[in-house]
Amino acid sequence: MKLAFGLLLHLLLSISTCTLGVQIQADPGVNSDGVVEVELDKVVSLVCEHVVKSEAGVELVWLRNGAAIQLKEGNTENRSVVCVTPIYDDNGATFTCHQRQNSTISSSVTLNVTFPPQLTGSEDITVEEEAEFHLTCDIWANPIVSNVVWTVNDSSVDLEEIGLQLTNDGFKTKLSTWKAERGRHEGAYKCSVTYFSEMYSKTFNLKLTDKTLKFPLMPMIAAIVIVALTLLLAIFSRWRMIMRCFK
Ligand SMILES: *[C@@H]1O[C@H](CO)[C@@H](O)[C@H](O)[C@H]1NC(C)=O
Ligand SMILES: *[C@@H]1O[C@H](CO)[C@@H](O)[C@H](O)[C@H]1NC(C)=O
Ligand SMILES: *[C@@H]1O[C@H](CO)[C@@H](O)[C@H](O)[C@H]1NC(C)=O
Repeated sequence: MKLAFGLLLHLLLSISTCTLGVQIQADPGVNSDGVVEVELDKVVSLVCEHVVKSEAGVELVWLRNGAAIQLKEGNTENRSVVCVTPIYDDNGATFTCHQRQNSTISSSVTLNVTFPPQLTGSEDITVEEEAEFHLTCDIWANPIVSNVVWTVNDSSVDLEEIGLQLTNDGFKTKLSTWKAERGRHEGAYKCSVTYFSEMYSKTFNLKLTDKTLKFPLMPMIAAIVIVALTLLLAIFSRWRMIMRCFK
């Protein structure tokens, strides 16, 4: 009885997968939404199998975002494997496997490529006094990080109080001001984020230099051009007069 029930269950399961025709399996697994979660640069293999075993081989085709993937010979019949080393661009990419004869018999998975923010090292920045400056940290990561902390000389400061504006759009976090002040703004600025209990940070060593008088380049060029044009015009009209003389 138990066996019969088990068999029936097995049959029912087979039937329910039969209707799919093709099925994709992945290592690591596919979740119920058809999403495969993978880390950047970590190889994932996607296995597509024709569920109904038939005598005649069934040709399988793979697509990435609708574009055909080149498959080696022997990797298309009844079972086909593609290996992906995910890059940033593969995040959200859809991989579809279908029968060559009938593209409606298909199955798809979407990649969710997780990656930490690219925050390391330090950068020396020199700014003139009274000039504007922007310190930008790239915090783009998947999943998104929200806990950004800025410190100055390794201690937390009230950024607004020292005249700095903080913006954060989920991709970049930025400290800026329109007017750098020597006593106020020099120091080591560090942005840090935590990504799965690991700390990522970048430091900017900000130095201020004396203000230099900017040479008014644009007005100078304009003046030179005007003078040159006037001269040219003068020569040209003279030349025409001379020409007329000779006629
Ligand atoms: C493709 O497969 C679907 C679903 O099994 C079926 O309804 C349809 O008739 C097939 N089309 C062709 C051209 O074989
Ligand atoms: C991708 O995976 C991360 C980590 O589990 C999760 O937080 C995020 O919501 C997933 N994104 C999508 C689009 O499924
Ligand atoms: C940070 O430290 C440097 C060197 O000790 C000092 O000159 C600067 O004023 C400090 N900056 C702030 C904002 O406290």
